[in-house]
Amino acid sequence: MRDVLRIAIVDPSDATREPLRNLLLGVDSVWLEAECARYEFFFDVIRQSVPDVAIVCLDADQAKAIQLIGQVASQVPELPILAVSGRNDGQAILQALRSGAREFLTSPVQLEELLTALARLPRRRPAGDSAPGTPFNKVNAQVYAVVGSRGGVGCTSVAVNLGATLAQERGYSVALIDLDLALGDADVALDLMGDYTLSDVALNIDRLDMAFLKRSLCQHASGLSLLPHPVQMEDCQLIREEHLQRLINLLRASYTHLLLDLSKSFSPNDVTGLRMADTILLVAQLDLSSLRNVVRMMLTLGNDPELAPKVQIVINRVGLESDITLKKAEEIIGKPIYWQVPNDPKVMIESRNNGVPLIQHAPKSKAQQSITGLAQTLMGKKQQDAAPRAKKWFWQTSS
Ligand SMILES: Nc1ncnc2c1ncn2[C@@H]1O[C@H](COP(=O)(O)OP(=O)(O)OP(=O)(O)O)[C@@H](O)[C@H]1O
Ligand SMILES: [Mg+2]
Repeated sequence: MRDVLRIAIVDPSDATREPLRNLLLGVDSVWLEAECARYEFFFDVIRQSVPDVAIVCLDADQAKAIQLIGQVASQVPELPILAVSGRNDGQAILQALRSGAREFLTSPVQLEELLTALARLPRRRPAGDSAPGTPFNKVNAQVYAVVGSRGGVGCTSVAVNLGATLAQERGYSVALIDLDLALGDADVALDLMGDYTLSDVALNIDRLDMAFLKRSLCQHASGLSLLPHPVQMEDCQLIREEHLQRLINLLRASYTHLLLDLSKSFSPNDVTGLRMADTILLVAQLDLSSLRNVVRMMLTLGNDPELAPKVQIVINRVGLESDITLKKAEEIIGKPIYWQVPNDPKVMIESRNNGVPLIQHAPKSKAQQSITGLAQTLMGKKQQDAAPRAKKWFWQTSS
């Protein structure tokens, strides 16, 4: 099971406690550990249930609630407290924060505000308590943007196969968003035809909630979930940056890993994807036009202090005849190559044509072995210096 954030709430009023409970029950990364209707009992409740976060609603009795916050904050200082009120009473907010609440939320609580507040909280249990590679904060999936340095370089192949590989891990839930809005083919690569696409999400952005979002994704037999690009080309324009931001923020709370298969147009949506990613996998091949574009992209991305440190270069189809060596490529790019995926045309074409990812179609193929290594490195299961650039046994490279 996913490593979840265990929450305890106290609110004597059914009218506000129930909607909050329902909101929490819709979030996969959250577990409602305890629900209490009396301020007097809540301290004992958290002593017994040991939650990760306590939510205290102020409005039933502000004085009692603030006293409770003070008691919890002083006696269980490692337990973060969220205070909730719908009264817009500045004095009460101030008192709650001074008494030890870490965050304040306005009632009725909005899902994204809740998720943002939870994401800001420090974790209570020690880091070693979680599986390796578990996101630092449980309501924040790791987001990988996969972007290419020219058409056909292998972005979709890397995104789909990395996603399907990560989805095999126990406790991981992985989703892929096809942001190559006009010409994407992640749905073909997974042989999936969902009822909904990104355009449905954009059209319903104002009433977007977890239940709707989960219905919008279709699940592949490998475990990987997909949100496909719009079917009609003219619908691509429906999807704007703010939609994407909202979508990614919500999906972050329901999945442990998100993959974004970006287009090659550097559109505002692509840039939003790059900004929201924790890691940018820049896929290239050992040819002049691809490497020249890597240099151009690195110049642009490198000027942005937020993006530059996230970029990792993945060279695809290594072994394909080329007079540019990996060493030369590193010199040209001015940055070490993070990962290499070998040229494996037969299995790649079969896998794509059958709509079956490599982990199912050819789990022992050299391309899948490399993707497994990439997934393990991203999960923190392997040291980066064990990356295949040091391994000569994997496949032949021209360096
Ligand atoms: N490592 C590999 N070995 C052999 N063939 C590969 C490899 N990676 C990808 N290919 C092949 O290259 C072609 C293009 O791959 P893919 O569609 O993944 O690239 P892309 O960058 O997403 O392309 P587009 O610009 O159309 O989005 C596909 O036919 C795929 O099977
Ligand atoms: Mg593609």
